[in-house]
Amino acid sequence: MGLPSSRIRIPDFLAKKAQRRKITMLTAYDATMARLLDEAGIDVLLVGDSLGVVILGNETTIPVTMDAMVHHTRAVANGAKRALVIADLPFLSYQASAADAVRNAGRLVQEGGASAVKLEGGLVMAETVQRLVEIGIPVMGHIGLTPQSVHQLGGYRMVGKTRSEAESLVQDARALEAAGAFAVVLECIPEEIAAGITAALQIPTIGIGSGPYCDGQVLVSYDAFGFFEAAPRFVKLYARMGEEMRAAAREYIDDVEQGRFPRRGVSVQNSKR
Ligand code: KIV
Repeated sequence: MGLPSSRIRIPDFLAKKAQRRKITMLTAYDATMARLLDEAGIDVLLVGDSLGVVILGNETTIPVTMDAMVHHTRAVANGAKRALVIADLPFLSYQASAADAVRNAGRLVQEGGASAVKLEGGLVMAETVQRLVEIGIPVMGHIGLTPQSVHQLGGYRMVGKTRSEAESLVQDARALEAAGAFAVVLECIPEEIAAGITAALQIPTIGIGSGPYCDGQVLVSYDAFGFFEAAPRFVKLYARMGEEMRAAAREYIDDVEQGRFPRRGVSVQNSKR
């Protein structure tokens, strides 16, 4: 028994950093999206708690539950053949105690099929990260703009513009590395601070809205592909799927209304389902 040899694994992260090869990561929330991104060659599929916003239609990630995360993680794991699947621990699933973190991270791995988990917070989460790593669950950290703390931050904003915020970020990143995290997401951090953290750490940094000097990049796929049309400004639009889908739906509606679809004589026997 073993994992397929082409599967991306945790040690590949460190190797990529050492070889100065960029790590690519996109969010996925279902098996079909996971399969398509996997076939395109993405390194990491993140089942982000951003699903609370882009899939479930909430204003923030705060209402996302463990059950929702397990459900979507299972789907993504079913669709991924090569990419490493990482799942977010949602709000309140790990902050109250390390025991909660162990139980809930365990669910994402055991029931969801994730290979690793991500959690928000730096120094304050170091003991929890250490505990998870000790029991064999790889952890990706996440600092800077941490969306689960949106109320504390006072909105979705850049973090690290003041000297004290920048110093805290460096401390947080070092604490996560010392606790055994295998990588850390830097979200909405000034690029020179992100560059400094990237140079200071042995483990890779994965940037989002934090400039080009991180060891890898992540985007919310629904933003990058134009499904979610309220994307942050730093996002590059790689496709306009929202427009495509509206146009396709309009064509279908028109076809049905005008009697052009279905065509006569095309039987259900031709269908795969
Ligand atoms: O939930 C998410 O999609 C994330 C990324 C933005 C890094 O945490």
